[in-house]
Amino acid sequence: MTQPNARSIRKDEHVRHVLNQPKQIDTDFNRVHLIHRSLPEFNLEDIDLSSAFGAVKWDVPIYINAMTGGSDWTKEINEKLAVVARETGLAMSLGSMHAALKDTSLNSSFTIAREINPEGFLIANVGADVSASRAKKAVQLIDADALQIHVNAAQELIMPEGDREFKNWRQNIEIIVNETDVPVIVKEVGFGMSRETISTLKELGVSYIDISGRGGTNFAQIENQRRINQEMDYMYSWGQSTVVSLLESEPFQNEVHILASGGVVTPLDAIKCLSLGANAVGISKLILDKVMNDGTDEAIKFLNDFIYQMKKIALLTNSRDLNDLKHSPKVLSSELENWKIQRMGQIYE
Ligand SMILES: Cc1cc2nc3c(=O)[nH]c(=O)nc-3n(C[C@H](O)[C@H](O)[C@H](O)COP(=O)(O)O)c2cc1C
Repeated sequence: MTQPNARSIRKDEHVRHVLNQPKQIDTDFNRVHLIHRSLPEFNLEDIDLSSAFGAVKWDVPIYINAMTGGSDWTKEINEKLAVVARETGLAMSLGSMHAALKDTSLNSSFTIAREINPEGFLIANVGADVSASRAKKAVQLIDADALQIHVNAAQELIMPEGDREFKNWRQNIEIIVNETDVPVIVKEVGFGMSRETISTLKELGVSYIDISGRGGTNFAQIENQRRINQEMDYMYSWGQSTVVSLLESEPFQNEVHILASGGVVTPLDAIKCLSLGANAVGISKLILDKVMNDGTDEAIKFLNDFIYQMKKIALLTNSRDLNDLKHSPKVLSSELENWKIQRMGQIYE
């Protein structure tokens, strides 16, 4: 048994709150309409959803996004997630590894993922305030194939014990990108990104960005519920949805590799993300729910079926691969179209 510290207690609390968080209803996915094609040119077996972007090549465009580690309970969860990743071939990101970087007795809650899945694509995860040497240590610890840096200013500010200093983040991200020899993905944690953020990241040399938008796991809600005084409970709908974040990313999609996450719960949601320009789609809560409620075998079956269903939907849009999907016609609701029109006139830094 490892000794619980403030971070490991918080990690356990996050999982508990996420498991109790009801499905979010306003995701914006229903505001994107793909066009049904009655005469597809392909057979189902022709559909190839593999994704290659930058130095990354995945057989399927879905990955298990960052969640946890740093306590005994979350070690068990990471073990289960790693089994699912190994059996489905999905890439898997670990949760924030700060805890292990400060207290080596917590290492095994992360390294378990590599033990279980020696050949798998694993992604280390740190915050934007971590030094480059610690970020590299996180990568080494799990022999990671990529590194995620989470940018979670909204979560920190809503958290009573959270960080209050952010101005060194930009420079720090630039240093980590320069000094790390695996692909570095900068990700949100469910508040979405804007054209301004993406443009700044591009200037800093970042070429992989997970816009992780609003519509799924809601850390504004979780951080409020973790305390008695619900001081900022009016912030539950803060941020850009996953769909809006993808629209915001459009001008940069030829220059940086965009990944999507946040509120993806159906194969149709995932296909919509790909059709809006994402190279792959990250899922956290849905997979956590499956693993914890139904077990690893059911979670594996569920994910294999999820990907099979994605192929069926791609076929119905007459798309053979991700490139076809990106260029497939779609109609946006007037709300989304209005967002685009208003944002078009706004200059970003
Ligand atoms: C239990 C839990 C813990 C999380 N911890 C982290 C974390 O440590 N680092 C991080 O970058 N994102 C973390 N996230 C955010 C996810 O990676 C993802 O961005 C967000 O949950 C939106 O995806 P979802 O709606 O599919 O859950 C966590 C999510 C969950 C559900």
